Amino acid sequence: MYLWGVPDIPPHFLERNAALDGLREKVLRSASSVGIFGLQGMGGIGKTVLATALARDERVQARFPDGVYWVTVGIEPQLTRQQARLTEAVSGTPQSIADVQQGKDCLRQCFADKQALLILDDLWNAADAKVFAALDAGSRLLLTTRDREILTVLGAEEHTLGLLDEPQALALLADWSGCAVSALDDEALAVARECGHLPLALSLCGAMVRDGIPWGDVKEALEEADLGFIEKHFPNYPYTNVLKALEVSVAALEKQDAQAAERYRELAVCRADVAAPETAIITLWEHTGNLSARQVRQLLRRLDSKGLLQQETATSERRVTLHDLQHDYLRAIQTECNGLAGLHQHVLLAYSKKCAAGWPSGPLVMQKTHDSLSMRM
Ligand SMILES: Nc1ncnc2c1ncn2[C@@H]1O[C@H](COP(=O)(O)OP(=O)(O)OP(=O)(O)O)[C@@H](O)[C@H]1O
Ligand SMILES: [Mg+2]
Repeated sequence: MYLWGVPDIPPHFLERNAALDGLREKVLRSASSVGIFGLQGMGGIGKTVLATALARDERVQARFPDGVYWVTVGIEPQLTRQQARLTEAVSGTPQSIADVQQGKDCLRQCFADKQALLILDDLWNAADAKVFAALDAGSRLLLTTRDREILTVLGAEEHTLGLLDEPQALALLADWSGCAVSALDDEALAVARECGHLPLALSLCGAMVRDGIPWGDVKEALEEADLGFIEKHFPNYPYTNVLKALEVSVAALEKQDAQAAERYRELAVCRADVAAPETAIITLWEHTGNLSARQVRQLLRRLDSKGLLQQETATSERRVTLHDLQHDYLRAIQTECNGLAGLHQHVLLAYSKKCAAGWPSGPLVMQKTHDSLSMRM
């Protein structure tokens, strides 16, 4: 079975059987004439993870023998580049794409007569989906988005993902914290509530408890977390539960190891929605923290175990991903202290050490670094 671009299942994966069954049933229903499905729900609620579980589901794979393809579209998509990569993945031949219409035509040829599932994750604009909508009748398109309106515009059949219920939220919290669900007390329940039952916030808080912080301290810190700077940069930001959990988790890391927290905050230079090759982070932290590649890998593992980022190590290329909400948080911090310009300067200096004649002359790794770090050059 061919899976292309599909992310890893996250650590401490919680099966959401009812949600998966409902979505699978819709996507597999052969009578559907629409062919476009939309998984909708608020940020951090678990859409990407549920779509990942669907892509890796045996029955889904059996229904789409020509493969399951995944494109993370995101807020600032590089559409022709994504079309070119997808075309190459489907046809096996590299293709240079000059504009989105040519890309769409190429995709139409590649997907002709195929039975494939294409997943467009994290869609912010309906128009972005249209440049990929070139599938044959045997194929299906699944979109994930926070924005219901996009699904209406595209005529997609909607599937809404709701919050975890209390038993699910406690199961996830318990798994991350290393406690049995039966051992969770009122303070742990209050932490789950402070997290708004959002999986990302629950992961961060569970990891803090696993690292030795008592439930009561986590609860208090969440209640006292000051998100004034977020309010300033993102007025009416709806995801404060997750940001509070991030703030408390980074403050705990700061106490434990101030340098590690400083390195983490530097990841504000990573682009949203683009997995950064581990080599890109090594280049940055070798320069800013004087860390060896081994120390960088160790720190990334630590940050991953705290739920502060996601490391992908299963494929040949090791990569690091920040969730959109983690990215928003880091950007807000750097904007607050006017740190972004300085960080970009650091990235350029880190590059210039590696590519004496300018970055395009450097090894391929440096060009990938450029793709994944949001530098203004
Ligand atoms: N079923 C699950 N089991 C374990 N962890 C989960 C699960 N669902 C979500 N998470 C955790 O929560 C994080 C956020 O989930 P996810 O990325 O799926 O949210 P999303 O709805 O796609 O958000 P966005 O709208 O920002 O893209 C994941 O990175 C993972 O750490
Ligand atoms: Mg997502």
